[in-house]
Amino acid sequence: MSLRMLCIFGTRPEAIKMAPLVLAAQRHPKVTPIVCLTGQHREMLDQVVKYFGLRVDHDLNLMQPNQTLSELTARCLQMLTGVISETKPDCIVGQGDTTTALCASMAAFYARIPFIHVEAGLRTDSIDSPFPEEFNRRVCSLTTALHCAPTEAAQDNLLREGYSPNDVVVTGNTVLDALKLSVQQERANSSTWIQKYPDIAGRPMVLITAHRRENHGEGIRNLCSAIGQLADMFPKIQYVYPVHMNPNICGPVHEILAGRKNVHLIPPADYPEFIWLMDQATLILSDSGGVQEEAPSLRKPVLVTRDSTERPEALAAGATRLVGTDPVRIVREVCELLTNRDAYTAMQVDVNPYGDGKASERIIDLACRRFSHQNQLAMSH
Ligand code: UD1
Ligand code: UDP
Repeated sequence: MSLRMLCIFGTRPEAIKMAPLVLAAQRHPKVTPIVCLTGQHREMLDQVVKYFGLRVDHDLNLMQPNQTLSELTARCLQMLTGVISETKPDCIVGQGDTTTALCASMAAFYARIPFIHVEAGLRTDSIDSPFPEEFNRRVCSLTTALHCAPTEAAQDNLLREGYSPNDVVVTGNTVLDALKLSVQQERANSSTWIQKYPDIAGRPMVLITAHRRENHGEGIRNLCSAIGQLADMFPKIQYVYPVHMNPNICGPVHEILAGRKNVHLIPPADYPEFIWLMDQATLILSDSGGVQEEAPSLRKPVLVTRDSTERPEALAAGATRLVGTDPVRIVREVCELLTNRDAYTAMQVDVNPYGDGKASERIIDLACRRFSHQNQLAMSH
């Protein structure tokens, strides 16, 4: 009898990190994946689902313009509970630390169904940063039956908090499975992207992303001011900025940076296009979690526009550096990497600490071994 695995996700990064897992589950002879999108994101989610060709069984279509955390959480929890009653899964899989992941873990707990947490054990030392993700991921851990830690440091965090070593396994991060599936393809597809970006291809380029809630307001305005100064200081460098759709981000970004010749404000790039842009970039300025994990594989330095990170492995390897959102600091750090070859090459690492691109297969095998007895038990009653 096949293991019925309900895979729940709703935002762009979750879709990227769950896609290889769903594909691995589809290939496995003893697993039946059931895909439920919460639709916490819409356009940014749909492009990923389409790129990986995922078959969707349920779509809750939850996104509202400028949604608040509490109303999104309330609707998500209620609707996921309905999907769980209807699909009767043997286990439920969620990823990371979004509102969708929080609600998936809570709904699984209330329904007494084992929850598998992918990318488990990331921590900062402050519940407020990142906000609300640090809270979300700690709650997810409380309800989890199988913690899939991407690294040993994440495993250590969970063991330190008292979770049983039997339930915590280091699997690597599935983001590198997705990267492995896409990067060669997009290199081969380069002519399409060169046609789309004739001003960017083959030229020095800084790639920028920003979306963190704790950087809304002053943080995002400071970042834009730094980019404006850098664009004036280095007019031959192109600054490519795929702007997140959150109105708290796209509003100030367009207000401060629109109309500059070497600053390209573009809509959120579809995943394959973004992979190509990262591969083209000289360096990356970002507050994204996923980008901190992907960029070391492409040997691209990342300056992280945050004060703390739950991804210390890339910092320790020297592949990323925390620069906060003070514009003076951002300008200084970017200048250094653009003008000092040794400082730049010191950030190009040979080994990515986040895994080997085989995390999905490991997680599916583990889930199969651990939870297949659930449906055997159900049959025997
Ligand atoms: C969410 C996650 C964050 C994750 C980020 C990835 C939470 C609390 N936040 O933040 O952890 O790092 O996604 O990008 O779970 N919007 C659209 N179309 C889209 C997506 C977003 O228009 O496809 C706009 C909508 O107005 C929406 C708003 O962005 O209400 C905010 O979306 P939301 O998911 O609440 O927050 P993010 O900032 O995207
Ligand atoms: N990404 C993308 N298009 C973009 C920016 C990022 O496809 O314009 C991808 C990126 O490759 C990474 C993921 O989205 O895999 C990161 O998502 P995001 O930064 O929104 O969220 P976080 O990782 O911080 O939760």
